[in-house]
Amino acid sequence: MEHPFRGRKVRPFTIEIAALVGAGAGGGAFADLTFPALSPRLADLAAPWFAIGAFSYGAPAGLALGWRSPSDFAQLMSIMVAPSFRGQGLAARLLGEWEKAAARLGATRVCACHSTRTKQGAAFEAALARAGWPAPQLHGLHLIGEAGALAEAVAQWPGVRGRLTDSQISTFDTWTTLTAVDRAAIERLKAESGIRPDIAIQQYEAALDPVCSVIVRRRGEVVGWIFAEPVRQLPIRGYDDRVARFYPVAYIAKSVQHTGIMIAGFWHAYSRQAAAYGCGSLVVYRTSTPGFMQLTRRLAPIAIRVDEIFESIKKL
Ligand SMILES: CC(C)(COP(=O)(O)OP(=O)(O)OC[C@H]1O[C@@H](n2cnc3c(N)ncnc32)[C@H](O)[C@@H]1OP(=O)(O)O)[C@@H](O)C(=O)NCCC(=O)NCCS
Repeated sequence: MEHPFRGRKVRPFTIEIAALVGAGAGGGAFADLTFPALSPRLADLAAPWFAIGAFSYGAPAGLALGWRSPSDFAQLMSIMVAPSFRGQGLAARLLGEWEKAAARLGATRVCACHSTRTKQGAAFEAALARAGWPAPQLHGLHLIGEAGALAEAVAQWPGVRGRLTDSQISTFDTWTTLTAVDRAAIERLKAESGIRPDIAIQQYEAALDPVCSVIVRRRGEVVGWIFAEPVRQLPIRGYDDRVARFYPVAYIAKSVQHTGIMIAGFWHAYSRQAAAYGCGSLVVYRTSTPGFMQLTRRLAPIAIRVDEIFESIKKL
């Protein structure tokens, strides 16, 4: 039988908006409207996560999902509108409702990121604009590359070459149990860095790979660290046979920034990764530090992929 709506322009929906927090709120039905890594949370969404869903006659039509940070902002992690409901202003509406929910939770800023790989980036930017968000700005770079090629390229970085094995002054130790003195040095560095005090090194230590995580010492004292951890979900297809390490956090003391010591630290990390897991094992990192963005752009020709990440921040 001919479908009754065929050939007709149909506006088959009224939209209801609902907060999807808690078991029984129906969040699980929205699993296809976010990234697979985030969808398991939806069935019983709990703080600091919160979401706004749009229903059309009881069926999921769109979802805005994010979390409230312990400081002053809320981060939008994903927004998706089911294909048949796109282009009718639903994303902008979801953004508006999600912002209101963020404000109710005490946030004074809302942040959203997307990258050059976001397929509907133009539509997303237009939705942000319609919802009154400032135009996204370049915020950082995301790199995926092979450990062997990266180690080789970093070693060619002028000004670093001579410092890679400068063990008289700096050492790049693999991660071992830290002493109380090391931990005190790390707390001092966290205070100078602006790293949120509630971010404990122990959070990362639980997951880190000691082979390619590095403690940087200068004359015996901790001046920096590089964490590496197994990649939970590889953000690229076709490389499932490779070992991959994500480098989520690195810091170097202000007193020795811009000396090439951190770049040397990464050389040690990538070299150790290549030795342990093969030159073709994958390195994944994000950076928004100007110096490292510059280095990352120089690594781009030998990387598998470098994406630009854009950020929009709206004051509430
Ligand atoms: C991005 C997305 C959420 C937009 O949803 P939507 O409901 O279609 O958005 P809206 O209807 O509110 O449209 C917003 C604006 O985008 C414009 N737009 C829609 N599709 C577009 C496209 N393909 N290219 C450029 N602009 C587009 C609309 O014209 C509208 O602009 P206007 O306000 O100036 O008229 C939707 O495309 C989607 O779910 N994409 C997949 C997931 C995604 O990429 N999410 C963003 C990053 S997490």
